[in-house]
Amino acid sequence: MKDRKSSDSAYFDAARSSAYDKKIRASIPGYDALHAMTRDLMQAAIPQEAKILVAGAGTGMEIITLGSSNSKWTFTAVDTSDDMLSICKNNVDDAGMSRRVEVHRGHVDELPDKQSYDAATSILVSHFIKDRESRKAFFQAIADRLLPKGLLVTADITASISDPALEYFIKAWKTHYGNAGIPEKEVEEDFYRSMRTVSFVPETELCSILLENGFEDVRPFFRAFLFGGWFCFRK
Ligand SMILES: C[S@@+](CC[C@H](N)C(=O)[O-])C[C@H]1O[C@@H](n2cnc3c(N)ncnc32)[C@H](O)[C@@H]1O
Repeated sequence: MKDRKSSDSAYFDAARSSAYDKKIRASIPGYDALHAMTRDLMQAAIPQEAKILVAGAGTGMEIITLGSSNSKWTFTAVDTSDDMLSICKNNVDDAGMSRRVEVHRGHVDELPDKQSYDAATSILVSHFIKDRESRKAFFQAIADRLLPKGLLVTADITASISDPALEYFIKAWKTHYGNAGIPEKEVEEDFYRSMRTVSFVPETELCSILLENGFEDVRPFFRAFLFGGWFCFRK
């Protein structure tokens, strides 16, 4: 059996990681707005000096967006992919933020088990965790490390497989990707692979997972086709 780290990082290999910053903007309408809104929510809800846990930090978009406008926020970047984290380190370095960022390659539940973070993000991460129990454990591990009333901003794909509109959303999403300049063959290949990699749960199920695993007051703040953003607070 594959170990947890290698199976969770298999999708974000060297090729996909180096193309990520360009392709994610083609793939997700409003990717930059999602991050800017996350920053604005954080600014509204957490102290000026704060520790932020970035689960699934990828190439560092959260850290750079949040950290550029808040010089006293510090970050722990957690990600299972070495390739994504090495780009993240370069991007953080270029932004002059290295001294404010600690990096952990692996899973959130491997971090010290104490409530020390004012806020956390999990942006475009949990839909890669296919198994429901593992997804619950992922959010519980974040909750366990937040201070009481700490803020979580999460963004994920949600959809119901039985929804007759799902096929239109998927077609529109593909069209958006192609219209952003991705060649047709690559659109087909990328969708083939990502549809086999991500897991669709309905919005109600995602909200239940959050409510049953350490969070309360879950509220939506963002929607773009199948991608949604929610914020909530540690119980
Ligand atoms: C689509 S990227 C999102 C990156 C970044 N949050 C953003 O908004 O651009 C998903 C990231 O989550 C990471 N990831 C997937 N499963 C994970 C897990 N269980 N724990 C930590 N990171 C994970 C992947 O390696 C990848 O870098």
